[in-house]
Amino acid sequence: MSKFEESRWADSEFSRNYRDEANVYLPFRREFIEITKSLYAYFIDAKSEASVLDLGCGDALFIQELIKTFSPKSITLVDGSNEMLEEAQRRLGKKANFNFIQASFQSLLSGELLNQNFDFVYSSLAIHHLSFEEKKQLYSYIYRLLSPGGSFVHYDVVVPPSKKIESWFLSLWRQWIKKHPDKEMSKKLLEIPEQYKRNTDNIPDTLGSQLQALKQIGFKEVDCYFKHGIFSLFGGFK
Ligand SMILES: C[S@@+](CC[C@H](N)C(=O)[O-])C[C@H]1O[C@@H](n2cnc3c(N)ncnc32)[C@H](O)[C@@H]1O
Repeated sequence: MSKFEESRWADSEFSRNYRDEANVYLPFRREFIEITKSLYAYFIDAKSEASVLDLGCGDALFIQELIKTFSPKSITLVDGSNEMLEEAQRRLGKKANFNFIQASFQSLLSGELLNQNFDFVYSSLAIHHLSFEEKKQLYSYIYRLLSPGGSFVHYDVVVPPSKKIESWFLSLWRQWIKKHPDKEMSKKLLEIPEQYKRNTDNIPDTLGSQLQALKQIGFKEVDCYFKHGIFSLFGGFK
């Protein structure tokens, strides 16, 4: 099994660069969050006592956006990086119903760190760091954690079905970065798209293989909810 500590996310400068630059190079980041909030409003918010889990929360941008509109009963934020969790705490402040847990996905899979059920499990741009076998194990783990009727939403990079489509999607991504008004910054970030597969820490899989894995595990109504190039929002219900 891979180790979080050996990944670049354990490096302080790498994680700080992500926090500083992600808004520039992640296409339609706001829209991905809005669609997720729409699903939450439609299916989850009706349960007044919803409990939420964010796996690989980073500096908690998603949770900050979620709680602008909704008031879940409890929110658990997990990340392998202590620094990211500190930034998440700084962003959200300390509240009795927030639970910050420093843990890698690998340690979640080998232990009993989470011993409650969740109505909504979210993860963005983190699970592609796991091998396909590990992804399947984590998806099964999420399925076990979900309450009946609960939803898992995963926003991540996926491998396109062919080289031809991949080349177009990466060009689409570069076009997005080039549109940023800070030209110096955007020039520097133009190398990011090529790294989505090239970095040894990144092990994205196809959307199809992950949808199939979710179905095999038992998730219902598995679908892709929103997509732009290699960025995909997908998931299912228990
Ligand atoms: C690209 S950032 C995404 C952060 C946040 N979800 C967002 O959308 O902005 C990836 C996050 O996943 C965390 N991460 C990467 N590999 C992990 C692992 N194996 N276990 C736990 N967290 C991991 C990193 O520390 C980082 O905070």
